[in-house]
Amino acid sequence: LPRLTTKRLGQNYHFFASLPSTNRTAKELARQGAPEGTLVVAEEQTAGRGRLGRAWVSPRNCGIYLSLVLRPAVPLGMAAQVTLLTSVSYCRAIEQVTGLKPMIKWPNDVLLSGKKICGILTEVHAEMEAVNYLIVGIGMNVNHQGADFPEEVRPVATSLALEAGKTVDSTQLLLAFLACLEADYDRWLSDGFGSIREQWLARAAGLGRPVQIVAGQRQWQGRLASIDEEGALLVTDTDGATHRVYSGEVSIRPE
Ligand code: BTN
Repeated sequence: LPRLTTKRLGQNYHFFASLPSTNRTAKELARQGAPEGTLVVAEEQTAGRGRLGRAWVSPRNCGIYLSLVLRPAVPLGMAAQVTLLTSVSYCRAIEQVTGLKPMIKWPNDVLLSGKKICGILTEVHAEMEAVNYLIVGIGMNVNHQGADFPEEVRPVATSLALEAGKTVDSTQLLLAFLACLEADYDRWLSDGFGSIREQWLARAAGLGRPVQIVAGQRQWQGRLASIDEEGALLVTDTDGATHRVYSGEVSIRPE
């Protein structure tokens, strides 16, 4: 990659015209001992995967589809913070490159005009309650036009080009993202989650708003309060009690 300013992230770089899924390839490389920061990028994916078993449609000339191998020496309980951290770093890159001001919906949806502009899928491989490696996969909606999205996601998806009203330089965005992520990741490794949490909260969508939480079979309503020092979502219920949410789907409801 030309103009790469990072020390670790992206230094070991694998580029493909087409892959089933960059997460899958990154996982194979990690199993074979690929070093921290190994980056896998594909121009298109034929079997891109999202959270909750969903597909991530990944057409050529539209998005950036990438996965990174990270090997933080942290307990398993901290792994979920990497997803929050990645969404902060991607917001900072978008701000630098386009001037747009994205927001984050817990745990990891980056939004513009209330619509999703990227998806993050973090896969954790742990041994004895410690992280062995993480695969952080990100699908960035960069130069999609409306018709490039599958019909069912059109109402809830957008791209940087659609929001900025002009084509965005993918290479510049990728390089800015790697630089932001490396800085945030290093800060997280040395100082913990505290400052990342502040940056996350500064961009949080829906704080104070009514939300619906769907966690497994359970569904309930509450108000979005904050995230705690571990990265769990804090939701206040109708009786005023605060609950920690570690996983699940959050929908922010109009008031
Ligand atoms: C989500 O459901 O929001 C997460 C989507 C993650 C998509 C990215 S694209 C690059 C990487 N490879 C995959 O197969 N998935 C992730």
